Amino acid sequence: MKSQRAKCAKLTRFDVLLGPNSGFVSSTRILVTGAAGFIGFHLSKRLLEAGHQVVGLDNLNDYYDVGLKESRLAILTQFKDFSIHRFDLENKEAVDALFSTSKFEYVVNLAAQAGVRYSIQNPYAYVNSNITGFLNILEACRNYPVKHLVYASSSSVYGANRKMPFSVHDNVDHPLALYAVTKKANELMAHSYSNLYNIPTTGLRFFTVYGPYGRPDMALFLFTKAILAGQPIDVFNEGKMLRDFTYVDDIVEGIVRLIPAIPKGNLKWSGEKPDPASSFAPYKIYNIGNNNPVELLHFIEVLEEKLGKKAVKNFLPLQDGDVPATYADVNDLMQDVGFKPDTSIETGIGNFVNWYKAYYKV
Ligand SMILES: NC(=O)c1ccc[n+]([C@@H]2O[C@H](COP(=O)([O-])OP(=O)(O)OC[C@H]3O[C@@H](n4cnc5c(N)ncnc54)[C@H](O)[C@@H]3O)[C@@H](O)[C@H]2O)c1
Repeated sequence: MKSQRAKCAKLTRFDVLLGPNSGFVSSTRILVTGAAGFIGFHLSKRLLEAGHQVVGLDNLNDYYDVGLKESRLAILTQFKDFSIHRFDLENKEAVDALFSTSKFEYVVNLAAQAGVRYSIQNPYAYVNSNITGFLNILEACRNYPVKHLVYASSSSVYGANRKMPFSVHDNVDHPLALYAVTKKANELMAHSYSNLYNIPTTGLRFFTVYGPYGRPDMALFLFTKAILAGQPIDVFNEGKMLRDFTYVDDIVEGIVRLIPAIPKGNLKWSGEKPDPASSFAPYKIYNIGNNNPVELLHFIEVLEEKLGKKAVKNFLPLQDGDVPATYADVNDLMQDVGFKPDTSIETGIGNFVNWYKAYYKV
């Protein structure tokens, strides 16, 4: 992390958080949906440590171990400025009531049905949480205006695109799974609300996020659990998968810098040559990814080294709906908020393994 700090020396966390033009002073009231989730937990903690008031919304569904979600909340509830509301985003009355009583200045929508593979078997869960739920957030932002709505999109929107690195300025019209469809739909829905109601919105395409308190359905967690138990791990695409693995602290740094970066309409935007990443309306899209793809087999090697134990690999073909490679172009992020993720997988996997061993007492 040292090199990251050095690189960002000109623009510190507090310049951004407390900058005179941001209106993002400490004690700002921020809604974080999905606060009991992996990224929502880390973001909420960071915002609370910087002196903000965080209101969390999460239904604590059982897509994965609810105990892990409760453990994250147990840490957040130690902060006096944190509160948690347990209900579904699809519950419009409850969402409206929360917005009407809380008067949020900023909203970060991270609650969603995540996971590419699960969307093949459970398509309705995605439409309910990611489309209906997000519509309720947009409607609430329309009726109870906020300064900025930031929401999670995903690298999976790049679908069948093969031009690397993936750029927010390229079209993304060929999704490979319904999960990606719902994330792309979120971007389109946000654009219409930015246009109709002048709501500043920013969509963030995260690239394979990992780190302590990470998701049990994702590769690093599954591999760690299996290797420690002496069980085989499923290695898809015969290990030739390239992923832009991004450490969770880098994702959080990106979000924290972008919350006060409220988009304005782009005066240079032209409908004759429409840029997908911006608009005449107050709308922006960013990638947050490591900008350094790693082959899955190398990722596993580093994990084996950190665990001190070899994996038994079960090589399998590419899964339906999965993409063989991801690689983020982060030029816009660099340009607009002076930051680029740079945590190495050696550091990130090491931190994950230390957390996993302490948390599960193995
Ligand atoms: N982790 C990644 O690699 C990654 C990559 C790209 C995009 N994303 C997106 O980032 C966001 C956060 O991801 P995460 O990894 O922290 O996932 P997560 O599953 O750990 O967190 C999501 C949280 O939202 C809650 N939730 C889900 N549906 C809900 C609903 N209908 N109402 C209320 N709460 C609901 C869940 O209980 C969970 O705690 C998601 O939108 C996800 O799609 C994540």
